[in-house]
Amino acid sequence: MNLHPGGMPATTRVGRGERLRRLPPALVTDLPVLGLLVLCWLLVPIAWAHLATGLALAGLIGVHLRTRPRQVARLSRRDRRPGSARQAGRRLGYGVFLAAAAAMTVTGLLRWSGVPPQYVWHGGISYLLLTLVVVHLWSIRRPLWARLRPRDPARRCR
Ligand code: HEM
Ligand code: HEM
Repeated sequence: MNLHPGGMPATTRVGRGERLRRLPPALVTDLPVLGLLVLCWLLVPIAWAHLATGLALAGLIGVHLRTRPRQVARLSRRDRRPGSARQAGRRLGYGVFLAAAAAMTVTGLLRWSGVPPQYVWHGGISYLLLTLVVVHLWSIRRPLWARLRPRDPARRCR
């Protein structure tokens, strides 16, 4: 058996970082974005809480995109192959989606700096983003489900 110097089985000592790595990846990088989106929306009436969750949300969206650099890079690459009209549509859709996420953050910061709501359309842009998130969730439902299942059931966290 694999023993530690103190005689304890090595498998019983699992660090917090290691435990985090064993969790399904969607629990770490995808579902928290959804949770914060809903929380941020629910907290609109409490200005400071809405701002705090809004800033955290912007950070988490950054993490969400950084965990899939190849997919994000592919969206900005030109595809000259025939029959790539569907790909072009997908790229356009994701372009609008990413622009809406950036606009939500920038207009939120402008609201924070005191610009009146009628000049920045922050509420409208943010609701547009929420709608696009619903479309995104529908289009990635299968990979999301796959990411929610543990990679190796034998290594599941107890
Ligand atoms: C404003 C919020 C969000 C933005 C801007 C965003 C953006 C993106 C982008 C650009 C991609 C790569 C697209 C591609 O496949 O080419 C992606 C993939 C993905 N997103 Fe999001 N996302 C957001 C929210 C969410 C949420 C809330 C979830 C789930 C709870 C989610 C789950 C996923 C998954 C599972 C993939 C991988 C899809 C695949 O492997 O084909 N995203 N996201
Ligand atoms: C789920 C995403 C979000 C939704 C649905 C949302 C919605 C709203 C709405 C409806 C308002 C009131 C109208 C207005 O003052 O323009 C508002 C205000 C505000 N939002 Fe957001 N927002 C979101 C994300 C964010 C983010 C990411 C930030 C910061 C980066 C932010 C910062 C602010 C600020 C500072 C205000 C003004 C608060 C006040 O003076 O009462 N919001 N938001």
